[in-house]
Formats: sequence, C-alpha cells, structure tokens
Amino acid sequence: MKLADNKATLSFSNGKPSVEMPVYSGAVGPDVIDIRKLYAQTGMFTYDPGFLSTAACQSAITYIDGDKGELLYRGYPIEQLATSCDFMETCHLLLYGELPNVEQKADFTKRVTMHTMVNEQMQFFLRGFRRDAHPMAIMTGLVGALSAFYHDSTDINNAEHRDISAVRLIAKMPTLVAMAYKYSAGQPYIYPKNDLSYSGNFLRMMFATPCEDYKVNPVLERALDRIFILHADHEQNASTSTVRLCGSSGTNPFAAIAAGVACLWGPAHGGANEACLNMLEEIQAMGGVAKVGEFMNQVKDKNSGVRLMGFGHRVYKNYDPRAKLMQETCNEVLNELGLANDPLFKLAKELERIALEDDYFVQRKLYPNVDFYSGIVQRAIGIPVKLFTGIFALARTVGWIAQLNEMIADPEYKIGRPRQLFTGSVPRNVKPLAQR
Ligand code: CMC
Repeated sequence: MKLADNKATLSFSNGKPSVEMPVYSGAVGPDVIDIRKLYAQTGMFTYDPGFLSTAACQSAITYIDGDKGELLYRGYPIEQLATSCDFMETCHLLLYGELPNVEQKADFTKRVTMHTMVNEQMQFFLRGFRRDAHPMAIMTGLVGALSAFYHDSTDINNAEHRDISAVRLIAKMPTLVAMAYKYSAGQPYIYPKNDLSYSGNFLRMMFATPCEDYKVNPVLERALDRIFILHADHEQNASTSTVRLCGSSGTNPFAAIAAGVACLWGPAHGGANEACLNMLEEIQAMGGVAKVGEFMNQVKDKNSGVRLMGFGHRVYKNYDPRAKLMQETCNEVLNELGLANDPLFKLAKELERIALEDDYFVQRKLYPNVDFYSGIVQRAIGIPVKLFTGIFALARTVGWIAQLNEMIADPEYKIGRPRQLFTGSVPRNVKPLAQR
C-alpha cells in the first residue's frame, strides 16, 4: 500500500481540535483511511457493526469489485481461471502468488498427493459421532483434531511449518469430507488413490465401495474441479476473517481452519447452498414453477422472514461472476447425466428470471450468487444436500490458509481485538441476596 496524495480530516462540532489521518491507496479499489492512531489522539473508537466500512488488513490475494461483478485471484479473472486452469494450479496461485509452470505444477500436485491419507486414528475419532451428525459438525471436530496429529509442524512463526500445514490441509480435506459422508451412509471408508486427480480422487472416495470401484466421469470430475476453483477464496468474508482473527492469537493452523469451518456452516454464508436447494425442493413440492409467484410474494413480505436463498451478497451488487460459471456447469452436468429437463433447474431459472425483472430485487441490487446453481450441480453428481457446505469448506481451505499465512508473514499483523460501544449498566453494587 502507498500513501495517497490527500489526507482525511476529522472535525468535531464541539470545538475539539480536528485530527488528520493518512490515506492509503491499494493497487486497485477504494482508498483506506488509517485510523490506527484515532483512539490515542481523540479517545474515541469507530463504530462499524458487520465491518461494512472497515478494512481489517492489507491483502494481495483476492480482489472483488462488487459493482462490476468482478472477481480476481492474484489479478487473474475467475472466468479465465475456471476455463483455463485446474484446482491444483489455482491452489498454487493462491498460496504462492503465481500460476505454476509445468514442473512447478507437477511438483506441487505431487506434494499434495503424498499427503492425502489421514492418520488411521482419525476413524476412531469419527466413531464418537452419531451416524446422523451434520457433516459440518463432524468437519469442525476433525479439522481441529488434525492439530493433535502434527505437533511437528504447528509453529506458525516458521515459514516451512506454515507451508507443510497448508499442503497437509489441502490434501486431507477431501479425505475427511468423504469419510464424514461414508460414516453417515454406514459404508466403509475408501482410501485415497493417488493416481487420480484431486477431484477424481474425491469422487472415488465418495462413491466407490470395497465391492464396486467407481469409474471417474471426466465431465463430473471437471465440474467438481470448477466448484473447487470458484469457492477457493473470496477476500475477507466471514469465515476468512474468522480464520485470521483466530490465527492472530498464534494458534496452530489446524485450529484456525477449524474455526473457519464452524463459521462457514451458517446459512447466511456457506450454508446457503444447502438452504437454497431445500428451498427449491420446497417450492417444487408446493407445485413447482406455478407457485413461483406465490413464493416471491412471501420473499418480498418483510414479516414472513423468507429470503430467496442463493440471492443477494454483501459485496456483489451485480451478477456474481461465479453464478454465471456455475450455471454453465449446471447445464453441462445435467446434459451429461441425461437430466436436461431437471425440474429444479427449470425452477431455479424461472426464479432467477422473475427476480431479475422484479422491482424489489432490482432496487436492492440482488442478483444470484454462487450458491444459486451449485446445489443443483452437486445433487446431480450424487452429493447429498447435507454435505454441500462440507464441499465448500474443502474448496475454501486453500483460501483460508493462504490468507492466514499472508497475515502471519505481514510485519504489521497484530492480535485482533475489536473494541465496543458499551451500553450496559454503569458501575453498581451487589446487594445481599435477601435484598434483591
Ligand atoms: N431475499 C430477499 N431479500 C433480500 C435478500 C434475499 N436473499 N438478500 C437481501 N435482501 C434484502 C433485505 O431484506 C434488505 O432489504 P431492506 O433494505 O428493505 O431491509 C436488503 O435486501 C439488504 O439486505 P441485507 O441483509 O442488509 O444485505 P447484506 O449485505 O447484509 O446481506 C446476504 C447479504 C448474503 C446475507 C443476504 O443477501 C442473504 O441473506 N442472502 C441469502 C443467503 C445467501 O444466499 N447467502 C450466500 C452468500 S454467497 C456465498 C458466500 O460467499 O458465502
């Protein structure tokens, strides 16, 4: 970041002296006002619930222009990455800043591949869960538990340790997600097979059984790989900020990523794909396309508490570029599987058409987000709805770890400690129990 030509001046109506604050410019996007000395100079904090106006860090990884509907990983448009690169290349880009050349790609892929197995003890850990446990509950536990297996590499101040933890996490997430699925289905776990691609191996660990192998379908393999690319990072969203805040205390990377998994679970964040598919199924059960108008009336009625899931975004006030790519993948997968007339896909397209023409959505700049179509794709592949957010967590792990490692390497990083506007009771004395 560099100092901008102008400064910001904060003045007060009560005659207090005004304060000048430096302004910094990034490579692209809005400037920021540096308020780090504000409290020392004025005795005041800023107030910004939900961090709507606060840049909590500097980052060189992902850039979003929400008005344009633009998403860049390390400067590369998501559309180009999704069509010209695979997930391993995207991981290399996010972690190390550059797309790999042929040798670098082979080397990185090999490093990830050599770490796909998890410690055999992990299955006993899984057994402690009920068979109907939500996969995100299991994932939060399993990812946190990884820290108990790698005491040799959890020193976050050691760059080599950070790198090996990153590779381990990226490699083991598919194995853990597939194990969570197999456990819920009551089937034996399938060990990774290292001559398959990252997404091909995941599909096989999900769908093979000891009595019947799984032949990877290249269209589904590519679709899943694209889902991973599209979800790999998304700037300072809630789960990434959680990982940064958690990691800022110096905790080990596995614990910080487990915190990210827990945050991602919520329906306003990663849980939206599950909520979106459930919503489509409910409308379908009500009568499908014929009931879209009725459903939309509920969405627009503030008292109903109903939201159009998969629509709207804190940052995108235009079409989420990931949603367009996901719609394309949805077409490909449904055609490949002979499901071109899938009623939920038709329903989703009809909802989108109506919403994009409706004043309520137009005025509020609400457009489809990545989750609007990703559930339909995953369901067609055979992934159960409850596992959708686990897939998101698998894909987002590289973004979380890249952001965590960037933070720790940043000389300006400090333990996160937001302040508050206190509105509770002023000091008072405890009365003896009998007098209360
Ligand atoms: N359906 C109906 N109304 C909506 C929706 C929606 N999906 N999203 C926002 N609104 C309305 C909201 O009621 C409010 O109206 P008003 O100004 O009249 O009070 C206005 O639009 C602004 O909403 P907001 O909640 O202040 O917006 P936000 O930026 O705080 O929330 C959001 C963003 C993603 C939480 C929200 O749009 C939402 O709940 N969407 C549905 C859940 C969803 O699809 N989430 C996935 C996000 S993308 C995946 C990811 O990156 O994690």
